[in-house]
Amino acid sequence: MLVGDETRTTEAALSDNNIRFFQRTEDDEIIDALLILSRVTSAVSGLCELNAILKVGLEKTLEYMGGLCGGIMLLDDREKRLYYSVYSGLPDEFAQKMSVKIGEGVNGKVALTGKAVLLNDISKESEVALHCNLTNIKDLRAFISIPLRYREKVLGVLNCASLYVYYFTEKDMHFLHSIGDQLGLAIGQARLLARLQEKKEKIRQVALQVINAQEEEKKRISQELHDETCQMLAALTLNLQVLIEMAEIIGIQDNKFKNMLAKTHAAAVHLNNEVNRLVSDLRPTILDTLGFIPAVRHYAESCLLPLGINVNFDITGAELPLLPEIEVNLFRWVQGIIGNIVRHSQAKSVTLSIMEKDHKLEICIQDDGIGFDVTKLGKITEKKRKHSMGLMIAEERMKLIGGKCSVHSQPGKGTRVLAVIPTG
Ligand SMILES: Nc1ncnc2c1ncn2[C@@H]1O[C@H](COP(=O)(O)OP(=O)(O)OP(=O)(O)O)[C@@H](O)[C@H]1O
Ligand SMILES: [Mg+2]
Repeated sequence: MLVGDETRTTEAALSDNNIRFFQRTEDDEIIDALLILSRVTSAVSGLCELNAILKVGLEKTLEYMGGLCGGIMLLDDREKRLYYSVYSGLPDEFAQKMSVKIGEGVNGKVALTGKAVLLNDISKESEVALHCNLTNIKDLRAFISIPLRYREKVLGVLNCASLYVYYFTEKDMHFLHSIGDQLGLAIGQARLLARLQEKKEKIRQVALQVINAQEEEKKRISQELHDETCQMLAALTLNLQVLIEMAEIIGIQDNKFKNMLAKTHAAAVHLNNEVNRLVSDLRPTILDTLGFIPAVRHYAESCLLPLGINVNFDITGAELPLLPEIEVNLFRWVQGIIGNIVRHSQAKSVTLSIMEKDHKLEICIQDDGIGFDVTKLGKITEKKRKHSMGLMIAEERMKLIGGKCSVHSQPGKGTRVLAVIPTG
């Protein structure tokens, strides 16, 4: 990345030099330094992207120094090498290829020892010529390099070079240290943030794997219940029905016996229905056979219609195939929200809309029930929290598949729960 519009010429640097040493008073320099420092500080606190912060840091440093060229090299912890992250006045082919092993050359030593280096004429330093090849670029002479530290650890170096010998002073070094402290803070925080994001992503992946494994297990149990238990219960119900009919045909008069037989038959029918419901809850076969939308329709109708709650569907452009893990998580999410409507809403009508637009799938479930105060959701007491996890789980489930979930409700004004997930 090149900072500044064009490489400055020797004449320009010469005039910088004149301005630097003959026109600026000490007070001017202090004011300039404070201004530059405050700009870098506000970039560190105001900008989010590390490269943008480093760019401002370098730009402002070179502006103050009247330095011809410079750059910020960051340390790659695994490779133990420094690479240019931003630079100015250096040829691309040089800066992009430049890599310095920690401990080697001036930059490598600064990174290793954490001590700044000020050279009055690099053309006299064989080590610099050997490792950095700096002398081949634009006849550079004075060179200054300071470590960029975060919590005592060196994370990079800030370099500044001039065409003139004896160009930089001890005062410059102090000034650069102040800039370096700010930039080091930015680099350290950016790295911590990156590590945090990496960990978050790993946790997300593990949670997804756990959910997928649970779903597989549910599928297996559901299959076994369906193939074994449901078949046997169906046969048992049928046999009991046959026994009832036989008792009629052979004219059994014992009412106690007939009542017991009828009760046993009713219990078998009830058990059969319950196990079928369990099978469907564990893994709605319709999700595997017909897909997400028909499964959602079927689930909503089978839960809400028997309670006298009317269901309207508004489904547009949602024909896209979803990944199985997305589909199953979305379905579980819908189950949780509909479960809440059944348990808490006292609604008369529910509208379920699904819309695919601009690479996003939006699912909205709205009821006209009693609603509730959403601001109290996060303030549930520990005792109640054990029983009120549904919406939190729904939110986390959405995050796992890269989506977002929001709940909108007010007492007396119904509830609207919205999920948005990217589809590619
Ligand atoms: N559709 C709704 N209508 C009215 N109140 C609702 C609705 N959905 C949620 N609520 C309120 O929000 C609270 C929190 O819901 P949440 O799903 O998090 O927990 P829960 O349903 O109480 O318990 P569970 O952990 O079993 O889901 C509910 O106790 C209820 O008071
Ligand atoms: Mg709930």
